[in-house]
Amino acid sequence: MKKMLSGIKPTGRLTLGNYIGAIRQFINYQDDYDLYIFIANMHAITVAQNPQELKRNTKDLIALYFACGLDPEKVTVFLQSDLPQHTELGWIMTCHSYMGELQRMTQYKDKTAKGETGITAGLFTYPSLMAADILLYDADYVPVGVDQKQHVELARNLAERFNNRYGDTFVVPKTLTPKVGAKIMSLQNPTKKMSKSEDNPKATIDLLDEPSIARKKIMSAVTDSIGIIQYDVENQPGIANLLTILSSLNNETIEHIVARYQGKGYGELKKEVAQVVFDFLSELQERYRAFMASGQLEEILRAGNEKAGKIAYKKTAKIKRKLGLNILK
Ligand code: TYM
Repeated sequence: MKKMLSGIKPTGRLTLGNYIGAIRQFINYQDDYDLYIFIANMHAITVAQNPQELKRNTKDLIALYFACGLDPEKVTVFLQSDLPQHTELGWIMTCHSYMGELQRMTQYKDKTAKGETGITAGLFTYPSLMAADILLYDADYVPVGVDQKQHVELARNLAERFNNRYGDTFVVPKTLTPKVGAKIMSLQNPTKKMSKSEDNPKATIDLLDEPSIARKKIMSAVTDSIGIIQYDVENQPGIANLLTILSSLNNETIEHIVARYQGKGYGELKKEVAQVVFDFLSELQERYRAFMASGQLEEILRAGNEKAGKIAYKKTAKIKRKLGLNILK
């Protein structure tokens, strides 16, 4: 069975973008791959976190993974900070990454271009840690949204570089992005990605939003004045985004939806999307509450940590041998 790995940062609350771009893929693949899903909390601390909130967001993320449909019998779920091999290999990867490579990473480039101050060294080197997360498990595939593709590309380059220098060590991973929904956009500024760190609460649908509030957010989503329902990302990004959300949650092709809406107005489309989102969140949150109440979280996480930890330990030992780092037999 091929291996697949992915993770999500527990910063802020999960959005519909995280679900459609990433989690939905995990669920679809869990029957056919040896799937490792983790909580990337060492990535979360690249920006300042409130410890209580970080803890709550971490637990919420785990519960939401299962509420969304991950099956604990099939998937290994673990916590990054519980396995020190991630940061260990992260350092090794940092030492094999070039400054120029990291400077080209979009997230860092955007923040510096905006003149943001207080950017940590961790934020600069975090793509190297992400490479370590992936390479530690010899993942063949990494399902992510479009915004993470560049980081998986770096992981591929680092794997090849390492293999060339020290002999075959790592599997070179491939990115998997969904055909529809790889980049869900902000509801208030549909040329920008829907993001956990967005300041305007009307711009994102959080998976733990009160469903009636989420409904209102969809109804007030920014559209355009063209007035025709068609999939035109360039000229009608808001409508294209609503069509993408509906298509993803309803498993209906965009062409089919567009055909259904011939001659109809934006209000009707918004109403349907709002209802589908409302129903989706209501059911999801019911499962989230049930999972939280079930007390399974710790047990599942312990088992996941143990299984992933064995792989990570073995792999790290091999890497250290290759690098000439250990001398004891
Ligand atoms: P993070 O936490 O920012 O996002 C988690 C996943 O959600 C996807 N995503 C989106 N997809 C579609 N539309 C959106 N608006 C949207 N917003 C987010 C992301 O592409 C991602 O798949 N560095 C990673 C976490 C990470 C990781 C890894 C992922 C750490 N190590 C190893 C894969 C493999 C991150 O910050 O994702």
